Amino acid sequence: MNMKRIAAEYAVQYIEDGMKVGLGTGSTAYWAIQRIGERVKEGLSIQAVATSKVSERQAIELGIPIIPFRELDSLDVTIDGADEVNSDLDLIKGGGGALLREKIVAHHSKRLIIVADERKLVQTLGQFPLPVEIVPFALEWTLNALQRLDCRTQLRTDEEQLFVTDNGNYIVDCNFGSIELPFKLHNEILGIPGVVDNGLFIGRADLVVIAHYDGIVEVL
Ligand code: 5RP
Repeated sequence: MNMKRIAAEYAVQYIEDGMKVGLGTGSTAYWAIQRIGERVKEGLSIQAVATSKVSERQAIELGIPIIPFRELDSLDVTIDGADEVNSDLDLIKGGGGALLREKIVAHHSKRLIIVADERKLVQTLGQFPLPVEIVPFALEWTLNALQRLDCRTQLRTDEEQLFVTDNGNYIVDCNFGSIELPFKLHNEILGIPGVVDNGLFIGRADLVVIAHYDGIVEVL
């Protein structure tokens, strides 16, 4: 059983006719977009914005109407994945490198629904290295400043090239170990000049749909 698919398809039930919908990024959000595409073919009328070029391409191929972000004042619902979810519904995101657009779209959504398989549930955030998007300018200084927050940094690469986000920036994966105070860390990282944003999503998720391996879907 594909648990990512089960969680994603469950969440698509929350989408209603006429809604403005944010499309997430990653292998779980992929299944939500596929299901939305099916529903659009069946007659569902929505407008959507995508959190990455990859998701936008997928949506266009499926006939989901995509509109430019600037033409929207707000979104009704966004369905997106996560790398880690704790019991407060705080998240680590950005494993796919789309955290900045994901955070912008989440911020402007009335409802953020996270979809995941049970492996993403954790007691304490931080086993998954925290993705941080940084501008290429002054790369070394920004890396040093991140390391002074007590983490090991790894500049993300893709096929031996530096990974470049849809916004032309780099991603640093920061291993902090257990993140006991996520909100504090989030703000400390944002205080570093050169950092654009980080993958901590604190107090943003409204609903988390978890598919368990015994087939049970849990809504948190
Ligand atoms: C992309 C993300 C993804 O939602 C997150 O990495 C989860 O990915 P997947 O569903 O492939 O496990 O934040 O930037």
